[in-house]
Amino acid sequence: MKHTITRISTNIAMTLIIVYSCSKKNADPVPVEDNEDLSLYLHSKDTTGFVWYKNDDTILGIATLPGHDLPKVRTRYNAEAASKLDANGKVIVGSVFATNSLIVKELFDTLNNFKEYAVMCKAPNSPNADAYGWVWGIYSPAGDVESSVKGQGASCTGCHQNTAGSIDLTLMNAGHP
Ligand code: HEC
Repeated sequence: MKHTITRISTNIAMTLIIVYSCSKKNADPVPVEDNEDLSLYLHSKDTTGFVWYKNDDTILGIATLPGHDLPKVRTRYNAEAASKLDANGKVIVGSVFATNSLIVKELFDTLNNFKEYAVMCKAPNSPNADAYGWVWGIYSPAGDVESSVKGQGASCTGCHQNTAGSIDLTLMNAGHP
């Protein structure tokens, strides 16, 4: 009986998560509809099940395209997002990422100190999503919100949509061919 109740509450929790989110398949510690920044940060921080761009976790020099302020990057994809990577870990041209795809770019300073997470998450049902269903955020390693989902990607999509070689607004292939 206790087990059943646990299962039921887990299912309710999962349903809530799926409504908005880029979640893993277990219960979320926070009600995401109350704080999507916190939810996105927590999901970005937990690296379980992610796949690295080009299957490689090496910290790279940032793309020479106009871009983010820090000099070094590496990017990973949760299972949903990774389904759009080819065998070499590059994004398949023409891909449209599925709901719950989460792409996390880790940014570093010149000395490879980790400085921030830049995140994009396919969640078309979120009130914070842009016209393409992406939710955008930037967080410090400790979870401080540097760019909130509430901006609906207004400060992100200019580059991400208009740069040549963009695939469903993603730029890793364009910046790191
Ligand atoms: C001035 C242009 C520019 C702006 C503005 C910009 N980005 Fe980016 N972004 C890039 C480029 C170029 C890359 C390719 C990887 C790199 O930086 O080396 C990238 C990569 C990324 C990635 C890795 C996934 C991918 O393939 O695109 C994420 C996640 C990301 N940016 C999030 C954001 C968020 C969140 C914002 C807004 C708060 C933002 N970006 C604003 C240029 C930009």
